[in-house]
Amino acid sequence: MDILKESFMQGFIRLTDDAFRKGWHERNGGNYSYRMKPEEADAVKAAFSYEREWQDIGVEVKNLAGEYFLVTGSGKYMRNVILDPAANLCIVEIDGTGTKFRIVWGLTQGGRPTSELPTHLMNHFIKKELTGGKHRVILHAHTTNVIALTFVLPLKDEVFTRELWEMATECPVVFPEGVGVVPWMVPGGRDIALATAELMKQYNVAIWAHHGIFCSGADFDETFGLMDTVEKSAEILVKVLSMGGKRQTITAQNFRDLAVDFKVTLPEKFLQE
Ligand code: 13P
Ligand code: ZN
Repeated sequence: MDILKESFMQGFIRLTDDAFRKGWHERNGGNYSYRMKPEEADAVKAAFSYEREWQDIGVEVKNLAGEYFLVTGSGKYMRNVILDPAANLCIVEIDGTGTKFRIVWGLTQGGRPTSELPTHLMNHFIKKELTGGKHRVILHAHTTNVIALTFVLPLKDEVFTRELWEMATECPVVFPEGVGVVPWMVPGGRDIALATAELMKQYNVAIWAHHGIFCSGADFDETFGLMDTVEKSAEILVKVLSMGGKRQTITAQNFRDLAVDFKVTLPEKFLQE
């Protein structure tokens, strides 16, 4: 068994490279986690070691007890993952109480999992419950255009959702639930983790004002695709605003018509005139 050749590992690594090339991950910016399937963990357990210490997560994630997560390391560069996955990634095990983790694989030159581990695990906690275990991927990135918009638009879910939907017809089909916005907060801790998880109860996208974005999805393609769609829409909006603003757009009634044909439910709170 070569853990680096396993398909979950290959899929994870491919996304880190794609996301870096998108320009979403300057320096060590952004981080990323995957909740492994039991059979994936079983298949690679021969590569695990258990001598590293249990450490406090900082939040309680009871329904993740005993689960394994593949996670990027704190301070590690997304662009280096493909060159040396074992030095830049780790697999962490969650203890039986859902309050501690330990590294069982990776970070071969030392280090710890991403400083945003509390937010990643709180998001997994919420999404595992709400999707019946379907969602497995949480991606955090410093997407340029989404960040730029947080300096200009009111920091309201309704405003960001509606503006992003208007910039590309497919957007309400890709994220019909909308997007949530967390006001500026100190990153890396419990408070921002709880605020983000609260939004993840409604949305698959949480924007951190003046910082970046978190996306949740079932697999690597869906999560990458969601972030790509949101960031592209934000880029169009930045261009439209730079050209003097909208002269015409998709109307609330257009969205209602689209919802019927594409069989999605668009909350009315995003369709006010
Ligand atoms: P880490 O290097 O600890 O993952 O932090 C990067 C980041 O984007 C913090 O929000
Ligand atoms: Zn960040």
